Amino acid sequence: MQDYKEIIKNYIKDKKRLKHSISTGLYMQKNAKLFEIDEEKAYIAGLLHDIGKELSKEEIINLALDFEKRNIYEIKHFSFKKRHSFLLHGVASAEIMIRDLGITDTDILIASICHTTGGINLSLLAKYTFLSDFCEPLRDFKEAKIIHKYLVKEKNFNKAYFYTYNYVIRHLLKREVEICVESIDGYNEALRLLM
Ligand SMILES: [Fe+2]
Ligand SMILES: [Fe+2]
Repeated sequence: MQDYKEIIKNYIKDKKRLKHSISTGLYMQKNAKLFEIDEEKAYIAGLLHDIGKELSKEEIINLALDFEKRNIYEIKHFSFKKRHSFLLHGVASAEIMIRDLGITDTDILIASICHTTGGINLSLLAKYTFLSDFCEPLRDFKEAKIIHKYLVKEKNFNKAYFYTYNYVIRHLLKREVEICVESIDGYNEALRLLM
């Protein structure tokens, strides 16, 4: 697979976001072997997960609608996500990957789609993208460092996965914003995996 590091500069203009994308890709690639995840897919999923993030609300929703028409993967809670279009930027990213980059690997596409909310029955790559987005090395908040410790030092994937939901949901509660049911479902499933 080709390296999309130059191509993403056409889509991601914000320097911090560009650095975050590259850092997520490299972080995922570096630690993939610990959990028997394909290194190349991990790199691409991490690098491209936010490629649609800088588009306008309307563009994000339109790309998500285009993706829906392909019948590759059902986007759950679509009307909720339309109201909070930020949550659809992973779907917009997947549509750009297909349309502009010719990526057809559904594992990578679905990992991008699910990185905003998490959810249930996710593939290992999708879970890995969700938590790495939160804890890649450029994230400088203390919770990110804790998740990194669970993942890389303790090699406890399920613990890192659960605490990502735990911190994300806590943050949303603090902000007093609506929470997508998919995140709550993901939290419950991740907790069961720990028991
Ligand atoms: Fe994102
Ligand atoms: Fe991200």
